[in-house]
Amino acid sequence: MGQSVLVPGFARVGGRLYADGVSLSRIARDIGTPTYVYSAARIREQYRRLESALMSALPDVAHRIHFSVKANSNLAVLRTLQELGAGVDIVSAGELYRTREAGFGGADVVFSGVGKTADELSQALNSMVLFINVESEGELRLLNDVAASMELVAPVTLRVNPEVTVESPHEYIRTGEKGHKFGIPYDDAMHVAMLAHELPHVKLVGLDMHIGSQISTWAPYEQALARIKPLIASLRAAGVTTLQWLDIGGGLAVTYDDEAPADVDRFAAGVAEAVRGLGLSLVVEPGRFLVAESGVLLTRVLYRKRSGGKEYIITDAGMNDLVRPSHYQAYHRIDAVDTVDTQVTADVVGPVCESGDFLALQRVMPDVQPGDLLAVQTAGAYGFVMASNYNSRPRPAEVIVDGDRFALATERERLEDLVRLERAHLRWRNAE
Ligand code: LLP
Repeated sequence: MGQSVLVPGFARVGGRLYADGVSLSRIARDIGTPTYVYSAARIREQYRRLESALMSALPDVAHRIHFSVKANSNLAVLRTLQELGAGVDIVSAGELYRTREAGFGGADVVFSGVGKTADELSQALNSMVLFINVESEGELRLLNDVAASMELVAPVTLRVNPEVTVESPHEYIRTGEKGHKFGIPYDDAMHVAMLAHELPHVKLVGLDMHIGSQISTWAPYEQALARIKPLIASLRAAGVTTLQWLDIGGGLAVTYDDEAPADVDRFAAGVAEAVRGLGLSLVVEPGRFLVAESGVLLTRVLYRKRSGGKEYIITDAGMNDLVRPSHYQAYHRIDAVDTVDTQVTADVVGPVCESGDFLALQRVMPDVQPGDLLAVQTAGAYGFVMASNYNSRPRPAEVIVDGDRFALATERERLEDLVRLERAHLRWRNAE
């Protein structure tokens, strides 16, 4: 029997963890494990929180939330956001394809990324995306050539590296500091912008920045915008009249453990102050903020083991299913699906043949036993999308819950899928 939904997302009802109105053990019974489970209600709640903060702070500035698809590119998740009126931020032809499948129009799409190919640029132009965030002079010149061959003019925003200090939990998720591979180095920005102004097959429609991820304070955005705004003024002084957009990227933080989440009202008020009077429309590109807390990775305990005085909990999900703990030393809370009263300090590890295959180290947590279910929390962003087939492990299933219903959003990969594109019998080509 479904429960009435009191809290959107994951909550304990009578000793059992629920996703909205559906118990996680029910999902495990039907779909198996490991499985990612997403709450549609929680996604909607996050979107509306951000949207209403922006709306009240920026009543007179056109703005749009473009979900950063890299955080979770599941078609059902994309569809949920599309129905709310979101746009998307993409970084590859693959993400473009997914967004079109999910029902987004070309004008809903902004195309970011440091290494777009000529083919990807031409697909984006074919789809008539809203604009392309260009990250180097080389890319600008290539885009101009691609657009010329298609007899088009490409709408371009330049991603400028504001070169500010960004506080975020891991160096891999900082992108706006001096010397990073992302964006156009600050000192080159005017020169590249003027080139964009002059090239016949691109139109400079705005500026863009993205300074990093899991940013919980307003200060780095403020510092970055204080660097971007003089560029806008200089461009206008130089006769550029085509600027329409300011894209300030993503990065809003969520709570994994006990850290502060982004204060969206402070964020919106800061943005409002920074963009007031600029005469530009605003784009924000949050990924994690919209989906992280809407997802868990549901996994079953396979074994318990004691080694060298340490307790191990061995689960059927490993680093190939959720790489964040191993790759970024990221913390994810782990809950027992059915309440267990005693506690243990343990390493939670997967079946992958790597010592770096863990979901948690030295964690004080419920003393679960083989057969019990665990929910790895805050796994809706950068979870499934970073999953791999390492150790020839099929990738997990994805389920979406809406109220007291649930649906399979991605089938679990089958063994045949693992070798679908491979050939045991080779067709040799002669190199001569
Ligand atoms: N826009 C651009 C151009 C980006 O590169 C990113 C993320 C975003 C927006 C969205 O950032 P968010 O709002 O999600 O912080 N795999 C890492 C995170 C990598 C983020 C890459 N870029 C992790 O698991 O923490």
